[in-house]
Amino acid sequence: MKAELYPADADAPKALQIEPMTPADLTAVLQIEAASFTTAWPVNAFANEIRDNKLAHYFIGRLDGRIVAYGGIWVILEDSHVTTIAVHPSLRGRRFGEEMLLKLLDEAIARGASWITLEVRESNVAAQKLYRKYGFTTVSTRRGYYSDNGENALVMWAGNLKGELYAARLRVLRATLEHQIAGRA
Ligand SMILES: CC(C)(COP(=O)(O)OP(=O)(O)OC[C@H]1O[C@@H](n2cnc3c(N)ncnc32)[C@H](O)[C@@H]1OP(=O)(O)O)[C@@H](O)C(=O)NCCC(=O)NCCS
Repeated sequence: MKAELYPADADAPKALQIEPMTPADLTAVLQIEAASFTTAWPVNAFANEIRDNKLAHYFIGRLDGRIVAYGGIWVILEDSHVTTIAVHPSLRGRRFGEEMLLKLLDEAIARGASWITLEVRESNVAAQKLYRKYGFTTVSTRRGYYSDNGENALVMWAGNLKGELYAARLRVLRATLEHQIAGRA
């Protein structure tokens, strides 16, 4: 049923069109949010972030005009934090999450961040693998961090974002991703 909302279209753009999140995007964002997280953020959380938080930078990704992914970061001087990232459930596994994470990393680096951190559920193996691919390592565990089921959070971290080693890693990942996007059905 949901997949019919996103019919295959040979003329559709293959790469996500990534833009800053605006209040007009929140209905679509909340639908993905509710389908992605057991403790979903309410509309006010997103609204406050994009309206009031000068440290926050949120983006949506459109495919053929429709919002299919979103993500956000905070950047505080050299420190940055991935606050959320999600892809519409019917479109996962097609590298939209990777495109969004790369955008968040680019944004953090462009705004001067030297390191980036995030929390992820211990059971969320897919997200952890994505983060590890982009150089994050687990630095600590927050016991019982998630209030819905008491699950632990892994704190992951990537450092030296402005260094040549990380830049080279991103270059390789970006080139591979662009190649995969070009081959997207
Ligand atoms: C995590 C999430 C954003 C990934 O987005 P996606 O578009 O499905 O993932 P991609 O197709 O871009 O995959 C990129 C990488 O992520 C990892 N990955 C994605 N799905 C995976 C899966 N099912 N199993 C294992 N690894 C997976 C892989 O490392 C993959 O790269 P590789 O195939 O070269 O190894 C998506 O699964 C999602 O929205 N999950 C629900 C919300 C969520 O958990 N957000 C993270 C909160 S911390």
